[in-house]
This record gives sequence, C-alpha cells and structure tokens, in this order.
Amino acid sequence: MLAAAGRGERLGSDRPKAFAKLRERPLLAESLERLEGSDWIDEIVIVAPPGWEEPSILVAEELGCAKVSACVAGGETRAESVRAGVAEVGDEAAVIAVHDAARPVLPGEVLERVLTALNEGWDGAVPAVPLADTIKRVRDGQIVETLPRQELVAVQTPQAFLAPVLRDAIAGDLAGATDCASLVEARGGRVTTVPGDPRLVKVTDAADLELVASLL
Ligand code: C5P
Repeated sequence: MLAAAGRGERLGSDRPKAFAKLRERPLLAESLERLEGSDWIDEIVIVAPPGWEEPSILVAEELGCAKVSACVAGGETRAESVRAGVAEVGDEAAVIAVHDAARPVLPGEVLERVLTALNEGWDGAVPAVPLADTIKRVRDGQIVETLPRQELVAVQTPQAFLAPVLRDAIAGDLAGATDCASLVEARGGRVTTVPGDPRLVKVTDAADLELVASLL
C-alpha cells in the first residue's frame, strides 16, 4: 500500500506533497513505479489525498501500473489513511507492506528485507537506521532526559506486517501513531528491524526534493 494522502504543507506548494514535482513527475510516480516493478508485490492500493483520487489513478495508468487494485481517499492522519487503504486490500493477502509516497527512492532490497523477516516468525518488520545525533527529551526549554543512543534507531518505510496483525492494530485507537509499527507494538505484536537505507529520506521541504532528485 502506498500512503500518499499527506497535505505536505511544509513544501509550500499549491498541491499535495504526492503531486510535488520530482524531475518533472509527481512525487508518487517514483515509488509507485518501484512497487509495480517489484517481484515481491502482487497488489497495490493507493491512498490518495482527498479529491486527488482521479489524478492518482491517471499517474498509475500513465506508468502502466497493472498491480493497482484500488485508490481511496486518505484521512486526517497517516494512521487513518492506512486504515482506509487496508480496508481495500484483498482478503487473500497474507502480508501487507505500507510505504510512504514521501519516500520516493525505494530500494528493492529494503522491500525484500522487510518481507523476508516475516518468514522468520515476526509479526512485522521495519527498516531502521542508526542515529548520528544524541537525542534528548526537552520540556519547557529544559532538557529533562538524554536517551541512550545505542538503543535508538530511526525507522523508515516500507513497513511490512502479517495482514491479520495489521488489520487488528488499525482497528483500535489510532491517536498519536506516526507509523504502523507503533500500533502493532501497542497490541503486543513482535516487530523486528532490518537495515534501512539513507536513500529512503522523507521529503518534507523543498530542499529534500532536491536531495531526493540527486539520488535518482
Ligand atoms: O506527514 P508525513 O510526512 O509524516 O507523512 C508520511 C506519509 O504518510 C506521506 O507519504 C503522506 O502522504 C502519508 N500521509 C497520509 N495521510 C495523512 C498524512 C500523511 O497518507 N493524513
């Protein structure tokens, strides 16, 4: 599933982030093309910005994406968008991978890593990269805690889960969830990490678009 329903206000564009231009193509085209081309993916559900379902389908058609089975409008939050998308995934799917359209450079080997981990008995698998900076908790301008960096990672997408596990996780309270894994963890699911990739940078502002374009 491709989560592409974010507004992308920090990009300062008149269109949603998924339609920001990356080398003359809408941002979502890049990850869509890579998902379509992966032998690991059978079916793609696009979660589009509300009102942008038709243009999203057009992008898929222009790319010749035969795996797109549905395109639905997203919700107010990422988790609500994922819930809307999962509802469209066919019952026969044993595994669901959720990827952010905001991370256009999706290396095939990362997709392979998260999906392979599910064969090793995990409920879910997410790409993770070590942190370079020291992370602190700050309240009212004062540092109240310095977290042990050796235990911390930054997680990316695609995140893959056994389908029943993800369906169960998104049926519950979604408040505050910034990724799918946190919802699965909250329900006692066992989620592992696999090596992530620096190319999976998330596009947030205009400078990120330039960075990502240089990685293509
Ligand atoms: O907003 P953020 O950068 O965290 O979004 C991460 C991903 O989640 C993006 O690909 C965005 O399109 C998607 N998203 C969504 N629905 C929302 C908010 C974000 O599908 N309501």
